[in-house]
Amino acid sequence: MNKQHSPAALRNRTPIAQVLEGILPESGTVLEVASGSGEHVTHFARHFPQLTWLPSDPSAEARSSITDHLQESGLSNCLPPVALDASDPQWPASLLQETELHAIVCINMIHIAPWKACLGLLEGAADLLPEEAPLYLYGPYQRAGKHTSESNAAFDAQLQQRNPEWGVRNLETVCEEAQDRGFRLEKTVEMPANNLSVVFRHSAAARR
Ligand SMILES: C[S@@+](CC[C@H](N)C(=O)[O-])C[C@H]1O[C@@H](n2cnc3c(N)ncnc32)[C@H](O)[C@@H]1O
Repeated sequence: MNKQHSPAALRNRTPIAQVLEGILPESGTVLEVASGSGEHVTHFARHFPQLTWLPSDPSAEARSSITDHLQESGLSNCLPPVALDASDPQWPASLLQETELHAIVCINMIHIAPWKACLGLLEGAADLLPEEAPLYLYGPYQRAGKHTSESNAAFDAQLQQRNPEWGVRNLETVCEEAQDRGFRLEKTVEMPANNLSVVFRHSAAARR
């Protein structure tokens, strides 16, 4: 068995699903970028049976874990995981050949990857999502360049020690980069443990 288990995913999957209830379309395909263990996508596929879910992760170990969780669940509305590195400029083109997307969800990735992964995510999402489709991000954020809690500041220091290219991102900077790629910020929602749900909508017309 290759199943990985993330205690954080088990804790945050229910509050995240509550936010997703208000933003996901009634039908269509949702891409999850950076699915990790696969526990989120399994939960969401069960919670939103009318949607088709497409998990992804650049890590082969993660994809193996996702496959095992999905096989165990017996769910039929989840596609096999794809290898997707958000910083690879080719990812939207390779996905587009296979499937039409109606929403993208990315949980706890942009701070645990170089900044170019965040930019690549926004770039690819802008290429793939139709007008008004949601892009959902979840994680800790700085606001106006300041940490919102001591625990987030300590976490940021830990991340940067592990990899100087990682770190808790500044919400306004992410929003500016998203706006430059044709997204408007629909809302942010305060989540448990000083995390934030960030919901963008794609307005194709606004793309530069
Ligand atoms: C902290 S884990 C989060 C996993 C899962 N979303 C969760 O919340 O439990 C970060 C994940 O981001 C993935 N990741 C790292 N760099 C990435 C990139 N450039 N593009 C896509 N995913 C990436 C890792 O492989 C890992 O699975």
